[in-house]
Amino acid sequence: MDTDNTDDNPYAHARYEGFPPGFFDRADSTNDNNFYVAPRMVTHIDDRAIAAVGDLYRELEINGRVLDLMSSWVSHFVEVPEELVVLGMNGDELTSNSQASSWHQHDLNLDPHLPFDDNYFDAVVCCVSVDYLVRPLEVFAEVYRIIRKGGLFVNSFSNRCFPTKAIRGWGQTDDEGHVSIVGEYYRRTGPWADLRAELRTPLTEPGDPLYAVWGHKA
Ligand SMILES: C[S@@+](CC[C@H](N)C(=O)[O-])C[C@H]1O[C@@H](n2cnc3c(N)ncnc32)[C@H](O)[C@@H]1O
Repeated sequence: MDTDNTDDNPYAHARYEGFPPGFFDRADSTNDNNFYVAPRMVTHIDDRAIAAVGDLYRELEINGRVLDLMSSWVSHFVEVPEELVVLGMNGDELTSNSQASSWHQHDLNLDPHLPFDDNYFDAVVCCVSVDYLVRPLEVFAEVYRIIRKGGLFVNSFSNRCFPTKAIRGWGQTDDEGHVSIVGEYYRRTGPWADLRAELRTPLTEPGDPLYAVWGHKA
């Protein structure tokens, strides 16, 4: 038995029905800690895409108690929320996040349970990271649990990733496919209301595209 293999077999569960076998496998299925043990004080998208994330958060008036899920040393807020909790894999990155009020080192692929009370957050954001989740429906269900009624869950992503750590289904689909995949995660959890998907960067100029999908807890 490969004890280093942390990826579950999510499509064995009824809620994953319809996703093809292998969709949530990864080229590197070893414990994520191996990959994230060294801090990466870098940005994963270009300045225009980062600005698009900040603009979206401002436009959606995200404030109050906010969780940045799968976070690092940057959270991209233009206006910092009253309380910003960051959760990710690398402690050095998280403690360097100047916008954060508190941080949690937590592997969502080992344990999709989120260490927070029901209905606590006004919003949860997840930037350029949803493609690394091998049990996304459990995580989305947990996000639903910890957001207050009417609260927001925003996912944003571009066309770049760590290919060995992204799920195979992501690597084998294009930008529109990625929007559909994330939309499907919302549709299979919740109920989420007012689901929206948008391309937040102009197609007519070069640079990293920034897509976002968001919804409110019904
Ligand atoms: C591409 S980086 C994006 C970081 C940050 N959200 C940003 O906008 O720059 C991917 C992030 O996902 C987090 N991550 C990857 N796998 C994870 C896991 N299994 N559990 C929790 N976080 C994870 C890593 O800690 C890393 O910070």
